[in-house]
Amino acid sequence: MEEEDEVAPAAMVKLGSYGGSVMLVVPGEESAAEETMLLWGIQQPTLSKPNAFVSQSSLQLRLDSCGHSLSILQSPSSLGTPGVTGSVMWDSGVILGKFLEHSVDSGMLILQGKKVVELGSGCGLVGCIAALLGGEVILTDLPDRLRLLRKNIETNMEHISLRGSITATELTWGEDPDRELIDPKPDYILGSDVVYSEGAVVDLLETLSQLSGPNTTILLAGELRNDAILEYFLEAAMNDFTIGRVDQTLWHPDFRSNRVVLYVLVKK
Ligand SMILES: C[S@@+](CC[C@H](N)C(=O)[O-])C[C@H]1O[C@@H](n2cnc3c(N)ncnc32)[C@H](O)[C@@H]1O
Repeated sequence: MEEEDEVAPAAMVKLGSYGGSVMLVVPGEESAAEETMLLWGIQQPTLSKPNAFVSQSSLQLRLDSCGHSLSILQSPSSLGTPGVTGSVMWDSGVILGKFLEHSVDSGMLILQGKKVVELGSGCGLVGCIAALLGGEVILTDLPDRLRLLRKNIETNMEHISLRGSITATELTWGEDPDRELIDPKPDYILGSDVVYSEGAVVDLLETLSQLSGPNTTILLAGELRNDAILEYFLEAAMNDFTIGRVDQTLWHPDFRSNRVVLYVLVKK
C-alpha cells in the first residue's frame, strides 16, 4: 500500500493577552513561504470582492461600533498621490476594528485601562474603536498624515464620554519613538494594512521591536494583495517574534473577508 503524505495538523496556541487560540506559524526555513502559499491556496484572495466594507471614493465612511455611529472622513483625492496611503480606509482596518469589538464582547480581549499604540493609523478608525473599548490609545502616523487623523478623532470622540482616552502623535517607523510611546511599553500594538511595501518592512519591524516588551501583544491585520511582500515580512518577523494566525471564525461574524489576514505577534 502506498504511504499517504501526512499533513501535520496546525499547532494551536495562545499568544500574549489575546484569549483565542491561534494557528502558530511554525518557525523554519520554508515556513513563511508555506504560510503565504496556504493563504493564497485556501483563501484565494483575488477571487473575493475588494473593498467589501469601504468605499474609497466617498468623503466619509460610516460604521456602527460600540453603540456609536462613527463617521470617518476620507480624502479620496489623495489616493493617486504617490506614497500617500492613509487617506482612505481599507477593509483590513474595518475588520481589525470590528474584531477588537467582537473580541472584547466575547471576553477574548480586555482593552479597558490598557495602553494601546496604533501604527500607521491613517484615518484612525481602529484607534477610535480601541478607545471606545476603554483603551488608553495613542494613534501614530507620518507627520503629514496627522491632520486628517486628528480631525477624525475630534469629529468622532469629542462628544462621547470615553471609557478610555485617545491622542495622536507622529511616529515614523525606524526612527526613535517618543518616550510616551515606550515608557511604559504598550500592552497592545495595533496595525492594519501596514505591511504593504517591501521597502518599509525592516523599519516597521524595528519599530515593533522597540515598542514591544514582554507583556506586549501585537495585532496586525493585512490585505492579501501581494504574497511576496507578506512572505518577506513573515520571514523577517520570525527572527524576533512568535506569530499566530487568527482564524476567521474568531473575527466579527459580519466582518470577514478572504482578502484579509489577521496575526497576533509577541516578542520572543
Ligand atoms: C495602507 S495605509 C493603512 C492605513 C490604516 N491603518 C487603514 O487600515 O486604513 C498605511 C499607513 O501606514 C503609514 N505609513 C507608511 N509608511 C510609514 C512609515 N515609514 N512610518 C510611519 N507610518 C507609515 C501611512 O501613512 C498609512 O497611514
